[in-house]
Amino acid sequence: MQITPSILNADLANLGAEVRRIGSADMVHIDVMDNHFVPNLTLGLPVVESLRAHTDLPFDAHLMIADPDRWAPAYAEAGCASVTFHVEAAAAPVRLAREIRKQGARASMALKPATPIEPYEDMLAELDMLLIMTVEPGFGGQKFLDMCLPKIRRARALMDKHGVETWLQVDGGVSLETIERCAEAGADVFVAGSAVYSAADPDAMVKDLRAKAEAARA
Ligand code: DX5
Ligand code: ZN
Repeated sequence: MQITPSILNADLANLGAEVRRIGSADMVHIDVMDNHFVPNLTLGLPVVESLRAHTDLPFDAHLMIADPDRWAPAYAEAGCASVTFHVEAAAAPVRLAREIRKQGARASMALKPATPIEPYEDMLAELDMLLIMTVEPGFGGQKFLDMCLPKIRRARALMDKHGVETWLQVDGGVSLETIERCAEAGADVFVAGSAVYSAADPDAMVKDLRAKAEAARA
């Protein structure tokens, strides 16, 4: 059970200090938005490269961008341990996943809430992580969509069926209120943005979230 806090709701003018507030995190989740794939603009490669020097935690880049085929491999080269592209935006997802792995990062693919998992069953073996969005991508602080829980269950069943080691990440509205539902459905990597960075002690929240997820899975 891994907790990957999103820095989207951190103080974006103080990212170096903000990542040091989540020392217990398994990875730092970095939301890259381009104002095309989603109606919001955050940060890109130069910021990721600069932030790399400020923490030893692995980076989990979530690319909510058009044309990930062109841009995603550079995030692997920049030292991101995991690089997630959206299948809705990728022209050649198999080729892209293989390219990310070739650059030495874990390859991950994200699905928006209305995108089904079934057409991608045969792709699971190409992926180190599958990200199931539990809000429409674009903004932090949105309400968790319970309608995504059956898809998490179906994805977990497909992973079991194929015997793959693919991690199953959920992102959007994950909090102490909702993390148990996600863990019971089969998720094992949890993004939490506002829940972590609105807490008085973000690192304590990371630990609380992990404990809840572990208890729910047990
Ligand atoms: C949404 C982002 C998420 C989000 C998480 O588009 O991908 O990572 O910012 O924030 P919370 O946990 O507040 O939903
Ligand atoms: Zn994200």
